[in-house]
Amino acid sequence: MSGLPQVAVVTEEPSSIACDALIVGAFSEGGSFVLEGPGAAIDEALSNDLSDYLRASGFKAGAGDLLLVSAGDSVAAEAVAVVGLGPRDKADATLLRRAAGSAARRLVERSTLGVAVHQLVSGSGYAVAEGLLLGTYRFTGYKSEPKTSKIQHILFTGDDGSAIDRAGIVAEATWLARDLVNEPASTLTPEALAQRAKESGEVAGFECTVWDETEIEANGFGGLLGVAQGSSNPPRFIQMRYAGSNATKKIALVGKGVTFDSGGLSLKDAANMETMKTDMGGAAAVIGAMTAIARLKPNIEVLAYVPATENMPSGTAIRPGDVLEHRGGKTTEVLNTDAEGRLILADALAYATEQEPEAIVDVATLTGSIMVALGKKATGLFSNDDALTGELQQASEAAGEPFWHMPLYDAYRKELDSEVADLKNVGSRWGGATIAALFLREFVGEDIAWAHLDIAGAARAESDYDENTKGGTGVAVRTLVNWVEGRAG
Ligand code: BES
Ligand code: ZN
Ligand code: ZN
Repeated sequence: MSGLPQVAVVTEEPSSIACDALIVGAFSEGGSFVLEGPGAAIDEALSNDLSDYLRASGFKAGAGDLLLVSAGDSVAAEAVAVVGLGPRDKADATLLRRAAGSAARRLVERSTLGVAVHQLVSGSGYAVAEGLLLGTYRFTGYKSEPKTSKIQHILFTGDDGSAIDRAGIVAEATWLARDLVNEPASTLTPEALAQRAKESGEVAGFECTVWDETEIEANGFGGLLGVAQGSSNPPRFIQMRYAGSNATKKIALVGKGVTFDSGGLSLKDAANMETMKTDMGGAAAVIGAMTAIARLKPNIEVLAYVPATENMPSGTAIRPGDVLEHRGGKTTEVLNTDAEGRLILADALAYATEQEPEAIVDVATLTGSIMVALGKKATGLFSNDDALTGELQQASEAAGEPFWHMPLYDAYRKELDSEVADLKNVGSRWGGATIAALFLREFVGEDIAWAHLDIAGAARAESDYDENTKGGTGVAVRTLVNWVEGRAG
């Protein structure tokens, strides 16, 4: 990864900002476009050349459309980038974040961008900055001739400077999460993930302690040990902590850190295994969120836990029918070794419960079933607490990350009854995401508000869209940061 572009606030009129491309917006109306605010001012400075060109090109200002026009001498910018925002009544901060993300990808060849589009929708400066920064992300670590973004400076016309700083912090955290997801599993082993968490903690300012396999065993994390036993790369349990100076509230985050999920002896087929380096997307979101939280310094204590392991088949691998004992003493009969996420999260949730936080949120690429239900762009939200559900829905909406509230039907709980142990790790195929969530619920204290975010679909983008680039999306970083800040006193 190369560094993020620098974002600065400037006070000049849009027409006097010296940049390679000035981004203005246009709404669609009556089958055509309307320029307002900065866009209208630029058009006037160019004696209507801009609107003439847009009209001649058939530009209709559909959401995310972009037309680049070279600018004449009467404006300081080299070119004007007109971003379509769709109809005015639908253009909110989320839409602008998405449009800005698409625009950034089209402008990566330029070094300085001027930005005025946010002036059309009040309070959208933060979202536009975030969209631009997220849209320029590229993972190029393994290209011999990397095509990196050339954008170095983003100049914002008159907006709130602190909101822009926050966008930089949250975007950088999301870049980190994407980098972790995009890194091949051969290099991002559990040990390497732990090392990255430690380094991030040193830079951002949170504590990080890592248990090796001996400490994991001594602490009774039988789920994590069991999943790890088929791999030659040993597991790690990563513990992070941030505390604001006068914090009285305490919450906990948990992220699934399966650095590669082959399925184990219940081996996946080739097509389903292709993207399984993504199976630590929950861990990436939690580590990314911790970096932003530590930099934003909300007044709250945040504990974060990542059980990290590979899931591999071998002569030492866990077998279908084996029984594991989790932290806290509950036992699970493993009938499908590919349902490994819940086995390692069980230990982490039981351990998080022991710390007596007010709320626990776990993030996991847990089930293919959630992708069947919600597709590839939405996160499934399960919770035992209505207030927490509301908080997370609000946080995700503000973040522009689509979440959908999913049910925890008690009637399905009996599918997890086992003949030989307290639980088995799979039920029937139907409602698989709910059944997985019901399994997790067994390990959370009854008096603790808990939510589970199934990001199996949203953690990876199959192609560029909106503020996302193909590959790891860093989904849930933004929502977690919003939620933690909202909880702080
Ligand atoms: N890591 C997978 C879930 C997954 C699937 C994530 C596709 C991202 C994309 C998880 O460990 C898994 O394999 N779950 C099984 C559970 C089943 C065996 C009960 C699944 O969903 O098929
Ligand atoms: Zn699996
Ligand atoms: Zn998995």
